[in-house]
Amino acid sequence: MVKILFGTESGNSEMAADDIAQILRDEGFNAEVVPMDEADVASLADQDFAIIITSTYGEGELPETTQPFYDALQQVHPDLCNLHFAAFGLGDSSYETYGNGIDTVAALLKELGATQISTTGRHDAAKSELLPEVCTAWARAIIPLAAGSLNLAA
Ligand SMILES: Cc1cc2nc3c(=O)[nH]c(=O)nc-3n(C[C@H](O)[C@H](O)[C@H](O)COP(=O)(O)O)c2cc1C
Repeated sequence: MVKILFGTESGNSEMAADDIAQILRDEGFNAEVVPMDEADVASLADQDFAIIITSTYGEGELPETTQPFYDALQQVHPDLCNLHFAAFGLGDSSYETYGNGIDTVAALLKELGATQISTTGRHDAAKSELLPEVCTAWARAIIPLAAGSLNLAA
C-alpha cells in the first residue's frame, strides 16, 4: 500500500494527490490518499513507501494542514529508516521562497532516517503548465523507481 500524504492551503495539493493516486491505481498499485493533518506519524515507521505532497504559503512557510504533520514528526521523532519516499511540491517561482514547503518536509523526513527516491517533483504556478499534466507525468516517471527498488506488490 502506497500512502500519499498531502498538505494544502487551498486544495491544489489534494487534487495532485488524487491524480497521482489514480496513476498508481491504473498501474496496479494500491494507493491511499491521506490528509497530512489526519496522518498517524508513528505508523510511518512501518511504511515501506510514501509519496509526500505539499505547497508553500506565506513567505516560504508550510500550509495549514502541513504544519501539524511537521510538528508531530518533530515531537514523535519516529525512526524512519525503513521508509522510502517520493516528494512533490507546489509553489510559485515569483516568490523568493519558491518550493520551501516540500524542501522543509523532505529534509525532516531524511533527518529521521527516510530515503528519498528520485528528485523532488515540482509544479510552478507562475508557469503555464497545468498541474494535472505535471503531477501525472512525474508520477509515471517515479513508478519504475519505486517498483524496482521496493518490489511493491502490484
Ligand atoms: C498568500 C500566498 C502565499 C504563497 N507563498 C508562496 C511561497 O512563499 N513560495 C511558493 O513557492 N509558493 C507560494 N505560494 C503559491 C502556492 O504554493 C501555490 O499557489 C500552490 O499551488 C497552492 O497549493 P495548495 O492549494 O495545495 O495550497 C503562495 C500562494 C499564496 C496565495
